Parts: sequence; C-alpha cells; structure tokens
Amino acid sequence: MYRTHTCGQLRIENVGQKVTLAGWVQKSRKLGGMTFIDLRDRYGITQLVVEADAPASLVEVATGLGREFVIQVKGEVLERQSKNPKMDTGDVEIKVEEINVLNKAVTPPFTIEDVSDGGDDLRMKYRYLDLRRNPLRKALMLRHRIAHEVRNYLDSKGFMEIETPYLIKSTPEGARDFVVPSRMNPGQFYALPQSPQTFKQLLMVAGYDRYFQIVRCFRDEDLRADRQPEFTQIDCEMSFVEQEDVLNTFEGMMRTLFKNVLGVDIPNPLPRMSWYDAMDKYGSDKPDIRYGMTIHELTEKAKGKGFSVLDGAAYIGAISVPGASEYTRKQLDELTEWVKRPQVGAKGLIYIKVNTDGTYKSSIDKFYTPEDLKVLADAAEAKAGDLILVLSGDNKRKVQTMLGVLRIEMGNRLGLRDPKVFAPLWIVDFPLLEWDDETQRFYAMHHPFTAPKPEHEAWFNSNKKEDLERVCANAYDFVLNGTELGGGSIRIHDAEMQKRMFEVLGISPEDAEYKFGFIINAFKFGAPPHGGLAFGFDRVCALFGGSDSIRDYIAFPKNNQGRDVMIDSPSKIDQEQMDELQIASTVKE
Ligand code: AMO
Repeated sequence: MYRTHTCGQLRIENVGQKVTLAGWVQKSRKLGGMTFIDLRDRYGITQLVVEADAPASLVEVATGLGREFVIQVKGEVLERQSKNPKMDTGDVEIKVEEINVLNKAVTPPFTIEDVSDGGDDLRMKYRYLDLRRNPLRKALMLRHRIAHEVRNYLDSKGFMEIETPYLIKSTPEGARDFVVPSRMNPGQFYALPQSPQTFKQLLMVAGYDRYFQIVRCFRDEDLRADRQPEFTQIDCEMSFVEQEDVLNTFEGMMRTLFKNVLGVDIPNPLPRMSWYDAMDKYGSDKPDIRYGMTIHELTEKAKGKGFSVLDGAAYIGAISVPGASEYTRKQLDELTEWVKRPQVGAKGLIYIKVNTDGTYKSSIDKFYTPEDLKVLADAAEAKAGDLILVLSGDNKRKVQTMLGVLRIEMGNRLGLRDPKVFAPLWIVDFPLLEWDDETQRFYAMHHPFTAPKPEHEAWFNSNKKEDLERVCANAYDFVLNGTELGGGSIRIHDAEMQKRMFEVLGISPEDAEYKFGFIINAFKFGAPPHGGLAFGFDRVCALFGGSDSIRDYIAFPKNNQGRDVMIDSPSKIDQEQMDELQIASTVKE
C-alpha cells in the first residue's frame, strides 16, 4: 500500500498512529540538526520531521531531497510543539522513520506555492506544475463541485444527460466555426459545434422532454478574460414549457448552486429587468446591479444653451459618481483620455462637480448658469459631493453603452464591485432582431430559432422595418455582477414561422434548406413547444470563485492568441497528412 492517509487528512486524534504518506516535497529546511519537510498532495500539506538523532542513513536521504521529489514516508503522528492554525494538519507532524524516493524531479521553473514567482507564459507552458499550486487546485475542485451539484439538481428534476456529436455542420450561434476536414469525404468539412442548439431541439422532437449536457463548445472568436475558443456549457432544453417554466427551473438550479456551494442565499424570486430598461439605466444588456450610479437622460434639459456639442446631439446621458466631486483637474483629464480610448469610443467628456458647499463647477460653465447646472444635477439625481459625467452623441444606444462602460470603470475605481457580493437577475424582453446598417439587413439577436413573443406576432409578419424592430423575443439572459452567465429562449416549433424567420433574416429558402434542412424537416413530424437555455459553465465557476477570468477554472486553457503553449498547438501538419486529406495551405512560407 502506497499510503494510509492523504497529506490533508491527519488531525490531533491521529496522534500516536503509525502512518504512511506519499506526495511531493514542497520544501525542506534544516533547523538545529532536524530536517523539516512539507509534503504535499492534492488534499493538503503535512509537516514531516527527521529528528537530529535519526539514523545517519535516514538523515542522508532527507538531506538529499529536492523540491518536487515524489516520496513515500513512514512514521508516527506526533502533536506539534508550535501549532499552525492556518493549516488543516497544523496540529500534527510525522516523526519520520523511513523515506522512499519514488521519483526524483528536476528543479521546477517556478516556485510551486500559493504565490508563485513564475510569469503567466511560463506557468502556462508548465501547466501541470501550475496545477499543483493551491489556487488552481481549489479552482478545479470548485469546478468539480459545481458540476456535481448541477447534475444532482437536474437529475432530481427529471432531466436526462444526453451526449450530442462534436463533428457536425455549422451551428447558428453567429461566431466563426472551427472546421475539420473529412478524409473519407474529400473537399468536405465538419464544423465543431458552437453549441448543441440544433441537436437539443431535435431531441425535443424525439420526445426527450428534459435534456441537459455539460458540453464542450467551440467558437473561433476574439478572446478575452471571459472567453475561450473551447469552453463548456451547461446546456438544457425542455418541452411543453413557457418562458416562466424555464426561468423558474433554472432560477432554482442557480439558487441551489449558490446555497450548496457557497452557502449564499440569493433573492427569491430573482429580479427581472427588460432589455430596454437595462440599456436605458445601465447602458448594458448585462448590468451589474450591485451598485446604483444609473444613467439619467438629459437630452431635453441640456439643450438650448448655445453649446453646439450638446445642442446637436440626438441623446445626452449622465451618471452621478458618488463622492467624486473632489476629483482634481489631473484626474478629470485622465478620465477624459480614458473615455476617448477606442475601447470606449467617446469624443469627449463633460463634467459637473456638485460641491459640498452647494456650488457647481463644470467644464461647460461658459454656457450654463448655476441654475442651469442645478436643473441638470437634479435630473441626474446628483447629491452634494457627486461628480456628474455627461456623454452625448447621435446614437442613443451607442452613448448609453459608453456610459455603461464608464459606469463599470467608476464602480471599479470606487471599489463598488466586491466579488463576494452576488447580484443575479434575469434580463427579459430582448428585441428579436437587430438591424445592421452596413449590410442593410436584420440579424437574430439570439439565434434564428428564437420565437417572437406571441403578442408581437403581427409585427413579426409585417414587412415594415419599424414593426420588425419592435418585436420582442421570448428570450432571456441570466446575468451576474455584470457578466452574462447564461441565455436562452422559447423556440419556434412551427415550420411556417421558422420559414418566415429565415425570410426576415434574408436567408434564401435554398440556403435555409442547405444549412438547416434537417431541422426544418424534423419540425414537420410533430415538434412539441419547447425552449431552453445554456449557462457558460466556466463563467459560473470563475464568478463563484470570485474571479472574472475563466482561465484559472479550466485545467488546460488556451492563451489570448488561442494557443496551447504547453503542447504548442495549433501547429503545422505533415505534407503526407495534408495529401491524405486532399487539402492545401495557401499561407506563404
Ligand atoms: P449563447 O451563445 O448565449 O447561447 O451561450 C451561452 C453561454 O455560454 C457562455 N459563452 C462562453 N463562455 C466562454 N467562452 C466563450 N467563448 C463563450 N461564448 C459563450 C456564456 C453564454 O451566456 N445555444 C444557445 C443557448 C440557448 O439558446 O439555449 C447559446 O449557445 O456564458
């Protein structure tokens, strides 16, 4: 037997027992002739002691141990003289009687401790060493725990976990596909699923009325902290349901996760906000409602004072930043530069300071009297001591989005975004369609299988752009602390309505048939009313762990260039393999 206990298991009750442990040498140090060794495995760390009067051979082995050597030790559990309350095993130590070196290790390229001296790239390259560190170990344990709770909950509600294929045809989620050439079908390609969307709908046609899957999805899109090219969804679908049933079921799932994993109670029922309200008040379809600082429209009140920037604007909006009236000239200049960055895209920033003595100071004093500024400050619901930040432009949603980004930045600067506070909500009543000026056509805001709200069907069947623009979708997103954790919709289950959808999206019947013929056809054979959603599993894990970077919650993630630097992928393939697949690369060497 390699071990009787793990390195995280021994407690004061075990004192006097003879035990065998196995693990990695975290570090060893000599103190007054004694050797102390920290032995680590994934359960914890146990302190080993080789006494000064131990047999010379044992002392010699102990002295020769290097970092990350894999060893087995036998010995007796003793009560520690100086206990370490920070460690689970901090009350005890092992008086070592025998050490067997199971494997040596070369010196690791960075320290394997809670805070490592290794940079990002190095740690990614040696991910298996990074995974030995506590923070990553905890992250993966959290991930495992959440997956387990999800399966328990959904199983208890009658959901079946069913796997769907990875080698499929393009899916309708709107990102780029990763494609895989087919040797047996030269010149033809599989696409890796961006989600199992079409398959889960086919499972509904097949009668498996409660489906779920913790499933890998693939999207060839630009990467950010909360995006990976391959990521995992908790993908779900239900038949014979309305929006209310779906929201209740998955609100229940999230409530259970919060309670069982974090011991946190979230509101019951969860707040719901329409997409329109979210945009108007938070400038985002994924509002962080942990704090206020909401957007106020000033369009009418701010115009007509001879200041051309505002007089010519289609929309003027503001946020009141609490207690920031003390901002210095330098800070305001820096903030102005900040909003001008391409990531925000504002042309400039107007400020109004509401001083604590009741006076105003603004960047537009030339055009606005103190009385005018008071009108604006009241409209922006500013209090004494607040700093009002104003943005304007010719497109309402664009300006609101900029204000939304600024609001998040100010929330960060003021420390209002505490990762230990959780404020989930549903966003509902999304527009079904999004008009794109460039291509002069509508796109599906969620995906083309999403149904319009029943009360908006007349608009959906109208050919007027303004009618189509106001159709709301039977769609919903689950938002937590400014992140979209999940989203879904009630689907179209009627072949005629699906055809109409493709028509509205400018997808020709031939194209629709080529891309989605299989599902259109399936709908002719008795498709039940159905709907569902998918949560981004990595995002759930990261937010539960208090981080907004999903990388640490994935065992082997890609870097920001979409590369796995550990296995050095993507990489070239042999000419022979290319020939067999009958593909050629046009990349110039
Ligand atoms: P959607 O495209 O909104 O919906 O995706 C659902 C959730 O998946 C997560 N997510 C990602 N996580 C990490 N990296 C990515 N690149 C990434 N892209 C998306 C998000 C998102 O909320 N089939 C529909 C769901 C449905 O209608 O049932 C779908 O995939 O958390």
